Amino acid sequence: MSDKPPRYASWTHGKLPLPELAEMKRRGEKIVMVTAYDAPSARLADEAGVDMILVGDSSGMVVHGRESTVAVTMDEIVLMTQWVARGAKRPVVVGDMPFGSYEASDEEAVRNAVRLVKEGGADVVKVERGGTSVARARAIVDAGVGVMGHVGLTPQTSTLLGGFKAQGRSVDQARRVYDEALALGAAGCFAIVLEAVPAPVAEAVTRALAVPTIGIGAGAACDGQVLVWHDMLGFYQGQAPRFVKRYANLAAEITGALGRYADDVRSGAFPEEQHTYAMPNEERELFEAELEGASEHH
Ligand code: KIV
Repeated sequence: MSDKPPRYASWTHGKLPLPELAEMKRRGEKIVMVTAYDAPSARLADEAGVDMILVGDSSGMVVHGRESTVAVTMDEIVLMTQWVARGAKRPVVVGDMPFGSYEASDEEAVRNAVRLVKEGGADVVKVERGGTSVARARAIVDAGVGVMGHVGLTPQTSTLLGGFKAQGRSVDQARRVYDEALALGAAGCFAIVLEAVPAPVAEAVTRALAVPTIGIGAGAACDGQVLVWHDMLGFYQGQAPRFVKRYANLAAEITGALGRYADDVRSGAFPEEQHTYAMPNEERELFEAELEGASEHH
């Protein structure tokens, strides 16, 4: 990143303006998005020059230890979005609408999207799937909130898809992914996430849309990429999805550090002099005399 403040900085308090994302696509500049779920992580992503932070319902799995994203609640996403919004100054903060928060009606979708913005501090929201989500996305945009679409592998409805599987490998599926992405674009979404979609399908969608595509397991032709914080930073030892590139191995760093801490506590090597607070000698002597006096009275 250049040292010069971006030209929009003074009139958006440093926040990347939403229309700038479509401009980046036009200029061929890749958009960088990552998930985050708390203030210190958001601050680090901001410092690293990330453009968008998704407060994803992937938190249900990578933070809260669930088997899927289905049980994640609005209250959880609102709280985490508040934390992230405090840490992220420049990146656009995307609040993920959890399963059950937008399916039933346009009214409920708008109410929950507005809650994520007003209470959570999200800049925009994200919804999964085509189908009824297209009308929901349009209703939320009409209410004045930016919406990111999400097609391909949609974890909230993975049961219907037969599990966490790539989508669009047959011509019928490819057509469905393509049509859903274009319908969400026409409904006013400012960007579309393409998850676990073959590269030729993602490329066709990216070519057909004026708004940016953000890929996760969708190849290099997408206008931007997103990865889940815990996957890309190696917060766990197990197998990550095929599309993840690990940029760090923090699980090994953290268990190593905790192991050294445990050894030091058990051996008495920690804490040392430098980690403790001193007391002036005369105060210490008075304190000890007081304790002695007190013990003589008992
Ligand atoms: O919840 C999430 O983190 C997501 C990304 C995988 C796009 O939806």
